[in-house]
Amino acid sequence: MNDVLPEEIGRWQRVESAYARTMSLHGYREVRTPYVEPTGLFVRAIGEATDVVEKEMYSFRHHDEDLTMRPEGTAGAARAYIEHGVQAKEPTTRWWYGGPMFRAERPQRGRYRQFSQLGAEIFGDAGPGCDAEMIDMLVGFLGDLRVPGVQVLVNSLGGPNTRTLYRDALVKHLTPKLASLSAESQRRLQTNPLRILDSKGEADQEAVRDAPTLHDFLDAEDHAHFDGLRRHLDALGTPYTVEPRLVRGLDYYTRTLFEIKGAHDKLGAGSTLVGGGRYDGMVADLGGPQVPAIGYAAGLERLLIASEIEVAPNVVDALVAPLGAAAVGIALGIARSLRRSSIRCEVDTRGTSLKSQLRRANALGARVVLILGDQELGDKTVQVKDLDAHSQETLPIEQALRVVVDRLVAASRSVDSRPPHASKERT
Ligand code: HAM
Repeated sequence: MNDVLPEEIGRWQRVESAYARTMSLHGYREVRTPYVEPTGLFVRAIGEATDVVEKEMYSFRHHDEDLTMRPEGTAGAARAYIEHGVQAKEPTTRWWYGGPMFRAERPQRGRYRQFSQLGAEIFGDAGPGCDAEMIDMLVGFLGDLRVPGVQVLVNSLGGPNTRTLYRDALVKHLTPKLASLSAESQRRLQTNPLRILDSKGEADQEAVRDAPTLHDFLDAEDHAHFDGLRRHLDALGTPYTVEPRLVRGLDYYTRTLFEIKGAHDKLGAGSTLVGGGRYDGMVADLGGPQVPAIGYAAGLERLLIASEIEVAPNVVDALVAPLGAAAVGIALGIARSLRRSSIRCEVDTRGTSLKSQLRRANALGARVVLILGDQELGDKTVQVKDLDAHSQETLPIEQALRVVVDRLVAASRSVDSRPPHASKERT
């Protein structure tokens, strides 16, 4: 679990605001669900024989209740959707969320025990058009964040019936090879054989190399759905790769499954930036109506590792620099006036040299420094040093305030109107 220090916050906020913008452009509304839910919700939604439920949940008992720190956001969103009878209010629901999730995994680069996800869920639309639009939207979002090497993998898991047939076929294929499998995969053959496809062990990979694929077991409707997805992605010009062995660690998926990766050299084993898919059965399994659903979540820390966006520090717009104790009083008044005009500013009251105050202005990302030396104090003037325009002028205090406010308000307007992919932004 990590601290995020103020110098890193600019990039976090930049990604979060790009995400909120993407969501609003696509008609999603934000939902906030609790960080803690009854343990049974996750067991039922995610599946008993998954790594998350078996060994990664932070669960505790409190006054006869079994509770868990949410390891992901889909189960809570589905619970809220059911609990608030949302299906009766609207035919399709598009929700997005962001925030911390908790999994007791072995930490490594891009894998943490408290991490943040940016996710979304659509309830009530079964068609492949909605799946394609979601994937295309995510590719666009990663483009906004300037993530190199983006690769989309798609697969179809079919319906629950397909899963059962495939599971049986896989068990039949792997049983004669049981002795060569890793201990973990031997156990999974009983509990969750599909997960063996995902194993990184060499012997396990060898054993599944010539195994039947899920696609051999898809029924006509599953095929039609998957073909529809590919057709829509082709029409949108969104590149993707069909990966018939793609499976994911959560049991609720049906039909469309996808994963988006970034360049491996930046992210290593944690190169999966976004994971998602359809879960047409979960809402009903949790006691709600029969409603199809699809969603995804992106790991925010991983996006930050992968993104090439840089954010220049911009703590304040202006620094007021009194050179000596006598000027501090006037400097405080100037700063107060600027703040009343919504200019963010700091007064450097340390009484240090001009050089050191200019260094401070740079570190804070200030555009303007208002300098008050003995001369200015006597003349009731102030020097306005514009660090961006490399200009300097001495003006009466009232006039200086007007000039600074006009200049900084105009500058902030031009930053606000910049597209999200503009580099070296100020936050
Ligand atoms: P997930 O594949 O378990 O899916 O996680 C989604 C993403 O969260 C991963 O691709 C990764 O970027 C990030 N992530 C997961 N675990 C960690 C970790 N320990 N440290 C850092 N980042 C991590 C889900 O959570 C599903 N709820 C997605 C979904 C929504 N499916 C349908 N709707």
